[in-house]
Amino acid sequence: MAIKITLGNSKGGVGKTTTTCLLAISLAKHFNQRVLVVDFDAQADSTDFLVRTFNVQHELANHTSVFEAIKSPETAADAVVKLDENLDLIPSGEELSGLDLLLFNKGVFGEFESGLYLDLVIQQVEANYDFILYDVPPTSNIQNINAIVASDYYIGVMMTQAKSYRQMSSFLKESNKTAESAHNSKYGYDGAQLLGILMYLENKRSNVDYTVISSALQTYGDNIFYSRIYERERVKRYDLVPPNPGKFDQHDKNTFAMYDSLAQEILIRVGKLPANTPKIRLEQLLELASDDLNHSEYNTLIEAFNKAVFYRDDVLESLEFTANQLTSALRDVFKDIETAKKRFVIQRIVQWTESKGSLAQLKELKNI
Ligand SMILES: Nc1ncnc2c1ncn2[C@@H]1O[C@H](COP(=O)(O)OP(=O)(O)OP(=O)(O)O)[C@@H](O)[C@H]1O
Ligand SMILES: [Mg+2]
Repeated sequence: MAIKITLGNSKGGVGKTTTTCLLAISLAKHFNQRVLVVDFDAQADSTDFLVRTFNVQHELANHTSVFEAIKSPETAADAVVKLDENLDLIPSGEELSGLDLLLFNKGVFGEFESGLYLDLVIQQVEANYDFILYDVPPTSNIQNINAIVASDYYIGVMMTQAKSYRQMSSFLKESNKTAESAHNSKYGYDGAQLLGILMYLENKRSNVDYTVISSALQTYGDNIFYSRIYERERVKRYDLVPPNPGKFDQHDKNTFAMYDSLAQEILIRVGKLPANTPKIRLEQLLELASDDLNHSEYNTLIEAFNKAVFYRDDVLESLEFTANQLTSALRDVFKDIETAKKRFVIQRIVQWTESKGSLAQLKELKNI
């Protein structure tokens, strides 16, 4: 059975669609999973992005969309567009904004009852996939309810701004409410669960960001993915020139390292990879940490890690440095860095190392 996931936030423009599409490409192409993206937003942004990326514009002309599939679920398979060997799409279009009216005309009135329709569609096709990802609109409406009912998990995508944080919290509350209604209904749903919270860091130097991050860490703790998404010029450029998954240059590879890390973490959280799967290499961690630090802090971090692990290739490969080495390196690095940022960087290094199931001593550092 497919693992079905909704990525959401009640605020617009926080990277839901981008994350859904790049995560789907990563799962399909880098982790060999069979993936279906269901565009359930009348803006049809993920349809546009994926169709351009895989050059299948011609397929879309006269093709049915998710709206027709909702009208007649038994035709769901007709709505599937093949993008790549492991990757399919059920496209959307502006007709989806008529969903409320369609359900009204079908004689469906109850809020929960009108949330069952996407699931009827997905039941027809889910046997073909390992993962189904739903791209939903930024408002809490009937699309979101349908997506959560048809999901096993949901992910809150959070830009590190106060407004996005509040609206992500409201997305989590509403999703939880829908999942409970599904669980308590007569239809036999387990009810979707929170899989994790993804931070999208727009402004890496801003104190507001770090205040929001600290508050999120306190409230949501381990629910927060250690993988983060950072603002990257290359992702902005994808709006104009889509990625070419067959021909990645170094910028694409650096960009996809973020989404690959998220994909791998998701595979671990849903139990498809063992918890002690070696994570991204230390070098990649340092590369990601560079976004949290200014130039001189970053150099100090590199130096400290050099000292701590003697920069031996075998150590970098296996990440077998000791807790004491890393602890003393971190103490050196963080003595001059201001507190909120320090806590954030330590927290993510700790989450990262803990997820390897080692270096438990680093927990002490959370209290610095
Ligand atoms: N990691 C990133 N780096 C730089 N720009 C990004 C990144 N992720 C997303 N963006 C840009 O931010 C804009 C909004 O992203 P996206 O469409 O994914 O947000 P959304 O939450 O789906 O929006 P909506 O709520 O309208 O559906 C896009 O122009 C996209 O290119
Ligand atoms: Mg979107």
